[in-house]
Amino acid sequence: IPVNPFDLVLFGATGDLAQRKILPGLYHRFEVGQMPEDACIIGSARSDMDSDAFRDQIRASMAEFAPEFKKDVLDRFLDRVSYVSVDASGDAGWSDLAKALRPDVVRAFYLSVGPSLFSGIAHRLNEHGLATPDSRIVVEKPFGHDLASAKALNEGLRACFKEHQIYRIDHYLGKETVQNLMALRFANSLFEPLWNSTHIDHVQITVAETVSVEGRGSYYDQSGAMRDMVQNHLVQLLCLTAMEPPSKFAPNAVRDEKVKVIEALDPVEPKDIARGQYRAEHGQGGYVDHVGNPASRTESFIALKVHLGNWRWAGVPFYLRTGKRLRARESEIAVFFRDPPHTIFPNVGPLHGNVLVIRLQPDEGIILRTTIKDPGPGGFRLSDVALDMSFADALGVEASAPDAYERLVMDVIRGDQTLFMRGDEAEAAWAWVDPIIQGWEDRGDRPARYDQGSSGPEEALMLMHRDGRRWRQIGG
Ligand code: BG6
Repeated sequence: IPVNPFDLVLFGATGDLAQRKILPGLYHRFEVGQMPEDACIIGSARSDMDSDAFRDQIRASMAEFAPEFKKDVLDRFLDRVSYVSVDASGDAGWSDLAKALRPDVVRAFYLSVGPSLFSGIAHRLNEHGLATPDSRIVVEKPFGHDLASAKALNEGLRACFKEHQIYRIDHYLGKETVQNLMALRFANSLFEPLWNSTHIDHVQITVAETVSVEGRGSYYDQSGAMRDMVQNHLVQLLCLTAMEPPSKFAPNAVRDEKVKVIEALDPVEPKDIARGQYRAEHGQGGYVDHVGNPASRTESFIALKVHLGNWRWAGVPFYLRTGKRLRARESEIAVFFRDPPHTIFPNVGPLHGNVLVIRLQPDEGIILRTTIKDPGPGGFRLSDVALDMSFADALGVEASAPDAYERLVMDVIRGDQTLFMRGDEAEAAWAWVDPIIQGWEDRGDRPARYDQGSSGPEEALMLMHRDGRRWRQIGG
């Protein structure tokens, strides 16, 4: 879809996310011809440098993070890039920024900065007359630390921008397979009639990482897996899996349904929570060493058994887990269908229900575990096999699939909020998360230790075993 000319102001332009993801993403959209030749990207940060120095910084970042770039295309892209030094929490530089903007094009202000700066920047954009009624403001996570801070952020942004101008990024919503989940559910007639408690036994949502806190120790130790991953990414995956069909694929229709899912989440009992922290081993530091806090009780892993109090999902547990330093980088949603009610085959043991796995990363695709007859004449035996569709093999998409950020940035320019969190959604997620965290803080719970390269602590396995179920193996 063609995109109109725009001015994109990137606050925090010298920061890690901007250099690693956002600017390379914009370059890629330029390379594939999706960005109009007269688009302008204005980097902005406190550092005092000129546009040439900023362009040099981007060249270095491209060499590191997107080395497959084409030199002549990068040169043309950088012609569209400039830099204005602005003090986000003072008054310096704002009039220079105003001069750099064109009057008749869409303006997007991308705040790749900490949340403590959101309201101040929004306010100054308004005060200095930079924000027009058609402007968009984009904010990164974390969107608050709890319900009260999320409300304060919403108030700060809404004092200067209308909700339809505010784009809260959750980069999981930009991932190809996450959107494919909606296509799978709502563009096929096979699944939706079975998508309820009559046919589904339980759902497992896993986001396993091999990395640790990667230089973000002080932020992470204040957050933990619950705030860093569950409140946003896992809740979003849960929403898309569990929501009712929206009447159309339009921003508020989709987001209305997601909010209903979050509001239907029951409180979680302590016995349904397993928190973990990876330990030091074989000369490798553990979590507490990586965050530099020997007394830390923050979780680098969490598993939860969650229930939705609504008609469709009554009695169907959703098991969520996410953690750092696990056996493999693997994210998936696995929908376990109920076992067949009766077997007509003698001597084959119990039959297993089908499992539909939506694999987000790596190797995006969809797998359906089915039971078939073992080939050959040696009696009637059954085996479980996977109908395995890798998107890369089936569609040849791997090379061209845009990174989540690329898609989301272009959606901002197009004015499409479907894949962005609405303010009430963020607040509803915090309203569910806050009492869970408060509960373990009040109880003084400590996370259990787990080995690096494992699937998490024993407690997480027990959470399933107790129910006579098993997690899918990570890195299996
Ligand atoms: C971020 C979290 O939102 O998502 C990180 O803050 C995490 O802690 C990251 O590593 C995972 O994203 P992805 O796209 O690599 O799965």
